[in-house]
Amino acid sequence: MGCFKTGEEESSSQCVQEVRSRTISWDSDIQGLVQQHCQNCHGSTPQPPATQNLTNKNTLVLYYSDAHDVNGPGLLIRLTTNNQRMPPDGSLSPCDVEKFKKWQEDGFP
Ligand code: HEC
Repeated sequence: MGCFKTGEEESSSQCVQEVRSRTISWDSDIQGLVQQHCQNCHGSTPQPPATQNLTNKNTLVLYYSDAHDVNGPGLLIRLTTNNQRMPPDGSLSPCDVEKFKKWQEDGFP
């Protein structure tokens, strides 16, 4: 109740602000996130039923389009809702999700 924030919410919103204040690029942020959170299932030999090697920038960018993700809702929906959530265990932090959003806004540098 009330307007007090927990320490965790506070640091997460500071982190989101930091992300929004700079350009997010594949090299600076996204490649490392994919290696840490996606590569086990989406590496050079994708683990079925996963089909795609998403350690490849061009392939990852394609999946931002829901039209490309024919059997799924599109990458940002997967990252932000429980509709075919990725990673399936929901381990991506709000701040890391913000990096995937900001990368698109910045034009996928
Ligand atoms: C524990 C394994 C696992 C991890 C980790 C994982 N995924 Fe997936 N992913 C799957 C499975 C299984 C599917 C196929 C079922 C589906 O479409 O929901 C899939 C499907 C996808 C698809 C549709 C293309 C395809 O390969 O079939 C995208 C895009 C995707 N995941 C993105 C991601 C991203 C981005 C991350 C990291 C932030 C991630 N996933 C982490 C298991 C995983």
